[in-house]
Amino acid sequence: MHLKAFVAVAAAQLATAQELMRFGCSQLTIDRIDPLVNPGSLPSAHMHQVIGGNSFNASMTPGSLDPSTAATCTSCTYSEDFSNYWTANIYFKARNGSFKRVPQVANLGLGVQAGMTVYYIRGYQASAKVNAFKPGFRMLVGDPSNRVAAKVPSGLCFRCESNMQQSPFGGAPCTGADTKNFPKSTCGGGWRVTVTFPSCWDGKNLDTPDHKSHISYPSSGTFESGGACPSTHPVKIPQIMYEIMFDTREFNNKADWPADGSQPFYWSQGDNTGYGIHGDYLFGWKGDALQKAMDTKCAGDNCKALQRQADAKAIACTKSQSAREDIGTSKWLTSLPGQAGMAPM
Ligand SMILES: *[C@@H]1O[C@H](CO)[C@@H](O)[C@H](O)[C@H]1NC(C)=O
Ligand SMILES: *[C@@H]1O[C@H](CO)[C@@H](O)[C@H](O)[C@H]1NC(C)=O
Repeated sequence: MHLKAFVAVAAAQLATAQELMRFGCSQLTIDRIDPLVNPGSLPSAHMHQVIGGNSFNASMTPGSLDPSTAATCTSCTYSEDFSNYWTANIYFKARNGSFKRVPQVANLGLGVQAGMTVYYIRGYQASAKVNAFKPGFRMLVGDPSNRVAAKVPSGLCFRCESNMQQSPFGGAPCTGADTKNFPKSTCGGGWRVTVTFPSCWDGKNLDTPDHKSHISYPSSGTFESGGACPSTHPVKIPQIMYEIMFDTREFNNKADWPADGSQPFYWSQGDNTGYGIHGDYLFGWKGDALQKAMDTKCAGDNCKALQRQADAKAIACTKSQSAREDIGTSKWLTSLPGQAGMAPM
């Protein structure tokens, strides 16, 4: 989303302004590995698109690998951020059954390529202490196997943009006409996909077996409105939000869509509903850079407390695929990577 538009809407909704960092990260890699859910598996179950530090790997054991020292570059514009952020990919299924990957584009006002827009949101409590994640911290939101609208957490959604200028602005994320399912019609400006993580932590576990139990939503209200953290998860952490701009425009020819009018898009795990929307986060900021950013209320993608690299340097940071296979960028695929023989649903 456009920062100015967001701030204008936010300011209209609440008297206090909220500090939020919003920055671009270019595509690091598109690869079938997942150090959080399938550590050590090469390949992992489904395809991901990944941004951040180039220490991203099939296995990233906390304690034995510190991204802020293992990585030699990051695709994020804040150059002390070696974290990794990833989601599934989107594929289009043509009427003849072939799949092609839906490309991503940079968000408005950002100079990176593809990748995602990352937000670290402090919330509206200007005086509250927001605690940076600890080294080794990681988390997951959403569920790739979910196919039920009611089970999609509230901060995850799709927006059908009518044009590339994202105008008129559709309001705060996951409000208005935004949906939990894939948009059902063609979108002249592609999709804006939002993935928001919980903002409270148990203060003890860097991770848990389900990658979710150590984090929680506020016990009442929302993080944005200053909702308190529950006693089980008392530590306020930055609210991380991803925005991924999927450029669906090359698939807007209805003659290629299924004859029965059904939806032709799939998440890379074989989900044809959209409800399997999910995002992964693995902390990797250098030293106390993120804490300084929170304490000094950094905003946007340029902040005195942090080092910023040129967009060209962020774009130049890439990592080659570990699970070598065709990902369907230029060639049509007969099945989704890793999903051959599985019935998509
Ligand atoms: C990824 O892991 C493999 C084997 O586990 C190792 O050889 C390789 O150097 C690692 N790559 C990075 C970028 O850390
Ligand atoms: C399947 O359909 C797509 C889109 O119309 C087309 O580009 C592709 O060549 C077709 N593939 C086959 C194997 O017919």
